[in-house]
Amino acid sequence: MYFDTHAHYNDRRFDADRQELLGSLPARGISLVVNPGSSMDTSRRAVELADAFSYICAAVGVHPHDSRTMDDKSIETLERLAAHPKVVAIGEIGLDYHYDHSPREVQRARFREQMELARRLALPVIIHEREATADMLEIVSAYPDVTGVFHCFAGSVETAKRLLAWGWYLSFTGVITYKNARVSHEVISAMPRDRIMIETDAPYLTPIPYRGQRNSSLYLPYVAQTVADLLGISLQEAAALTAENGKQCFGIE
Ligand code: NI
Repeated sequence: MYFDTHAHYNDRRFDADRQELLGSLPARGISLVVNPGSSMDTSRRAVELADAFSYICAAVGVHPHDSRTMDDKSIETLERLAAHPKVVAIGEIGLDYHYDHSPREVQRARFREQMELARRLALPVIIHEREATADMLEIVSAYPDVTGVFHCFAGSVETAKRLLAWGWYLSFTGVITYKNARVSHEVISAMPRDRIMIETDAPYLTPIPYRGQRNSSLYLPYVAQTVADLLGISLQEAAALTAENGKQCFGIE
C-alpha cells in the first residue's frame, strides 16, 4: 500500500476531475492520503473532502503565504475544525522567507499561535519551511512537546540531525527524483528508516518522468522508488515502510 502523506486536493487544478480521480485511488494502489489545508477556506474544505472519502484524512492550518489573512477568530475556527475525527494534524504551517507573501513578523506570530493550538489539542503538525531555517529552529525548539513532520524537507544534513534528535519525521517529494537532489539523498541514506515519509505535494513538485505536468498521488511510486534505490530495498518495502511511518506520525490505526 502507498500512503501519500501530503496532497492538496482542494486546489482548483483538480476541479475538473476531483471526484473521479479520488474515487480511483484505492484501485490504483493509493490506500491513504492526508490533504492539508493552507488557508481558512481550504482547511474547511479539507474536512469536507475527508468526510466524503474514507481513505482521505485532513489537516487544518494556515500556510505562511496566507498568515496575513488570519484574524482574531481564526484559531478558534481551526480548533473547531480540528475536533472532526478525520483531522489528524495542524498544517500546513510554518515560515516562508523565499516568497514573503506575508510579513515575516506576522508569519512568526501565526506560526507560534498554531504551534500552541497543536500543543493544546495534542496533535502533530505539518511544517513548511523555506529559507527560514534559523527562525524555524528557534520556534520549534520552544515547543518541545509538539512534533510532526517537515514536509518537502530540503534542508542540510546538519538541520536534519537536529530535527531527528527532537523527534521529527522528514518527508520527501518528487524533488528527490531530480538530478540536483544530492543533499536530500545524503539525508535519506543517513537518517533512521523509521522517520522517512513520502508525499506528492500534488498538484506541485511532479516527479520525473512527469515533471511539468499536474501531480497527483498516482505518481507517488516514483518517489518511493528513489527511496528504495537509496536504501537498497524493494519498491514494495519502501512503500510499506513509508506508509507505516506516516501512520505512526499521524496516529492513524
Ligand atoms: Ni503543501
